[in-house]
Amino acid sequence: CSKEGGSTAKVLKVGTDAGFAPFEFQDEKSKEYVGFDMDLIKALGKQMGYEVQIQNMNFDGLIPGLEANNIDAIASGMTITEARKQKVNFTKPYYQAGLTIVVKSENNSIKNFKDLEGKKIAVQIGTTGAAEAKKIKDAQVREFNNAPEAFMELKAGGVDAVVNDKPVNEYYIAQSGSKDAKAVGEPLQAEEYGIAVAKKNTELAGKLDKALDELKKNGEYEKIYVKWFGK
Ligand code: ARG
Repeated sequence: CSKEGGSTAKVLKVGTDAGFAPFEFQDEKSKEYVGFDMDLIKALGKQMGYEVQIQNMNFDGLIPGLEANNIDAIASGMTITEARKQKVNFTKPYYQAGLTIVVKSENNSIKNFKDLEGKKIAVQIGTTGAAEAKKIKDAQVREFNNAPEAFMELKAGGVDAVVNDKPVNEYYIAQSGSKDAKAVGEPLQAEEYGIAVAKKNTELAGKLDKALDELKKNGEYEKIYVKWFGK
């Protein structure tokens, strides 16, 4: 019998920033990491014969973590961008998103990205939202470690707006009972999320793509989508 054999599944170490509901967040009761990305990566792992272990870390530490080999993959609502493609390998897109603006409910002066000129904006460090906010003329951009902190700053009145991913903004507003905040603006640009693996790990990217195709064919992807986003 071979030494490599046996029944223990291979481990896939997956990094995420679990402050991004409904994609990844910590369940208050069970303390488990839950959300669309968490269900998807576990289903992909299962399909490929891996046991998935989640590591919660800061969003801006995810790519360095991959480069340092501390994790094997990133499942964190990460947008596929040209800049990131220089450093990592992405799977095929698994979710379509875009950026919108969140303001306080009573704010009627900010309706689109143009209205953000000269305004104070909170963003999450290292995100596409941060990059886009920095392009806005005369805007004062304040960067927070995670999205919940950016939303808290808006609530506290320290900023005029938050620029962040549309599905996350909508979830935040729905959770807060839509009394404090509202989302405005057409999504700034189409963004697509991908799972990232190390640049040299083309084999794993290929396996993930194949597994994603299989989950789309067998209805598992659809089930997970409906669970978190409805029809
Ligand atoms: N999609 C955006 C980006 O890639 C934000 C992702 C933030 N994800 C998170 N888990 N906090 O920059």
